[in-house]
Amino acid sequence: MASITDVCGEKKEKKPERDGGSVSCTRKTSKPSKMFKILETQGLIVGKTLGSGSYATVKSAYDMNRKHKVAIKIINKKKAQDEYLTKFLPREVEAMQTFGKHYAMIHFYQIIETTSWHFFIMELCDSGDLLTEIKNRGYIEEDQAGQWFIHLYDGTKYMHSKGIVHRDIKCENLVLTKQNTLKITDFGFAKKITKTKSGTTVLSETYCGSYAYAPPEILKGTPYNAELADVWSMGVVLYTMLYGSLPFDDCDHKKLLKQVQSRIVFPAKPEVSKCCRILIVKILSRVTERVPLKHLKADGWFKTQLNVKTFIKNAKNVKEEEKEGELTQVKYMEEDADKDAETNKT
Ligand SMILES: Nc1ncnc2c1ncn2[C@@H]1O[C@H](COP(=O)(O)OP(=O)(O)OP(=O)(O)O)[C@@H](O)[C@H]1O
Ligand SMILES: [Mg+2]
Repeated sequence: MASITDVCGEKKEKKPERDGGSVSCTRKTSKPSKMFKILETQGLIVGKTLGSGSYATVKSAYDMNRKHKVAIKIINKKKAQDEYLTKFLPREVEAMQTFGKHYAMIHFYQIIETTSWHFFIMELCDSGDLLTEIKNRGYIEEDQAGQWFIHLYDGTKYMHSKGIVHRDIKCENLVLTKQNTLKITDFGFAKKITKTKSGTTVLSETYCGSYAYAPPEILKGTPYNAELADVWSMGVVLYTMLYGSLPFDDCDHKKLLKQVQSRIVFPAKPEVSKCCRILIVKILSRVTERVPLKHLKADGWFKTQLNVKTFIKNAKNVKEEEKEGELTQVKYMEEDADKDAETNKT
């Protein structure tokens, strides 16, 4: 078991190598005044920073066109490495374009691309991310964890049904709304699932995500089924919510590899029901024994959680509203920001 602060602390937030090459980008964005000016010309008044990951800063903003608050993911193209810009960023955009509206997924409104930046305008989740929530509460009560796990299941099922795997499911990439809904965000590692003519999933070979959330097959460096890898990460999230700490310690790779291949050991406290622990074992199992996403619904604990589902209203909206709020894309010349600002003054 690993302390959540040790493993998910600031220093550890940098993502590991992707596709064998390191991809990095500093978090600070240059020339903020110019950036704010550009966003203002688009009707966006930037507010506080909500979080930052390896490649981006996410800020809240008031959207004067939509007349409500939004979140903006800001990526500084000039600071990002080529591989990130040519490979991962386009995949993130492709994932955003593929998804319709789903209650357990962050909804994207608009992409603005300028010479220096990419801005993703998206739905704001004003209760922060799951990692912060766990740190604040110590751990999450089983019933609440069950509800959020159902949301995570629904969102992941939706993503997979659209032919996309997330490959970076972790507490930092799950955000919470004031209505107590958990939503999946950060599609920076997302990828289209390739299927053979007979419909079997082509195994992935490149490593993505965080070691602490990675299944044994990835840690061993063998080709892996990315859908089943997402299921493993969901199991790590469930354990982390319930116990307030990560199940596996990613400080030492050798130790980590041993841990993920051994039967999971549960702490005595906080108390978690046997049914729930059984489900965790079914998920955190070797790939040949791991429960596939489509069979999760048949699990006893999962069924109980479904029965106490407290988001009935939201659940009714689970049906995709494909056409609602379609993603728009804008290319914007930075020089125009000055002109627009001048025009607005007059
Ligand atoms: N829609 C949102 N509402 C509220 N907070 C958000 C939202 N999106 C992201 N955040 C916060 O910002 C943090 C960073 O966002 P995100 O995970 O998208 O960026 P990142 O990890 O830098 O992404 P990437 O690795 O693709 O560059 C999240 O961990 C979360 O705390
Ligand atoms: Mg992230």
